[in-house]
Amino acid sequence: MATQGSARLALIAALSAVCLLPVLATAQLRVGFYQKTCSNAEALVRQAVAAAFTKDAGIAAGLIRLHFHDCFVRGCDASVLLATNPGGGRTERVAIPNNPSLRGFEVIDAAKAALERSCPRTVSCADILAFAARDSITLTGNVVYPVPAGRRDGSVSIEQEALDNLPPPTFTAQQLIDRFKNKTLTAEEMVLLSGAHTVGRSFCASFVNRIWNGNTPIVDAGLSPAYAAQLRALCPSTTTQTTPITAPMDPGSPNVLDNNYYKLLPRGMGLFFSDNQLRVDGNLNGLVNRFAANESLWKERFAAAMVKMGRIQVQTGSCGQVRLNCNVVNPTSVHLEGSVEEEGLVATS
Ligand code: HEM
Ligand SMILES: *[C@@H]1O[C@H](CO)[C@@H](O)[C@H](O)[C@H]1NC(C)=O
Ligand SMILES: *[C@@H]1O[C@H](CO)[C@@H](O)[C@H](O)[C@H]1NC(C)=O
Repeated sequence: MATQGSARLALIAALSAVCLLPVLATAQLRVGFYQKTCSNAEALVRQAVAAAFTKDAGIAAGLIRLHFHDCFVRGCDASVLLATNPGGGRTERVAIPNNPSLRGFEVIDAAKAALERSCPRTVSCADILAFAARDSITLTGNVVYPVPAGRRDGSVSIEQEALDNLPPPTFTAQQLIDRFKNKTLTAEEMVLLSGAHTVGRSFCASFVNRIWNGNTPIVDAGLSPAYAAQLRALCPSTTTQTTPITAPMDPGSPNVLDNNYYKLLPRGMGLFFSDNQLRVDGNLNGLVNRFAANESLWKERFAAAMVKMGRIQVQTGSCGQVRLNCNVVNPTSVHLEGSVEEEGLVATS
């Protein structure tokens, strides 16, 4: 028994090592993945998102960002949702880019609870994140697009990896391009996806160094003096990471997914240093002008870029697991059982 058990463990370890190889991890996601196993999967997620949106429209922005922050760290594997690590240590969730600003966790939990009632152990948390982001885009932007699914959930979440992989608002154009390129996304896709900043808000900490230098008022390059003054009235010079004040990124329509982001940039109203960087690079600025001029062009390409982002480093098939609770890795017994039953070891040997 012991031998069989450890052989099984070794096999599982070998499989999970194989799963992390990029070549094999390009495995196929599929639109309608849950058609047979949980036909109302996408409807249940949509209902959870719609219910939350009715109470707080800002939650849509939170859900779009959750999917982005998931995909950029260890691929789209719901690692961003883990509240604890089996191995101990601090998680992505508590890292500065995520805490306290990330929101929407309880919507994912509500969707997962409904799914576990309807089709137990079937729908991954990583797929829920991708569906919820799409539903948020539909609710705010009237953009509908099919989401390829079949992602599996990871078992590791490390604070430092969030710091190393998520682009901070202090990045230059070249740094933004490089970071997205490292995630298989082009400069154009970086500009397209940045348009998500047409919804939602930011805590003062992410832009305070553009308006205050200590107690001295300043106006960062590319920021309109009038807008800087408004932001200064909102955010004290003593702002810290946890100062609970936020500014809308598109003040005119913070809950509408339109192409206003690209129109605000030339007016000196990009909230972050990084937003304004899309203006200082000639190629990027050409794209900004195109998306400002044609909203349907932006929406069409934005949806395609979201789908591509949703493919970053995904685990599929027999890799990873379907978490029962999105906040914690499955207990070992469930994982082993799941591995043997769901991962088709017989077929692969
Ligand atoms: C290009 C590099 C990016 C940088 C530097 C960046 C940075 C930021 C920062 C600093 C915030 C505010 C956090 C806070 O409250 O302090 C924010 C908010 C947000 N970001 Fe980004 N972001 C980037 C790309 C993206 C992408 C690719 C998406 C999605 C496709 C996205 C979606 C959002 C949304 C929706 C919010 C508002 C969240 C809310 O209201 O809860 N961002 N971003
Ligand atoms: C991204 O960067 C990491 C770490 O530097 C590297 O291992 C990986 O191969 C890069 N991925 C791509 C697609 O460039
Ligand atoms: C805007 O983009 C769409 C593609 O989504 C295209 O069909 C349309 O012709 C463009 N409009 C203009 C004025 O260029």
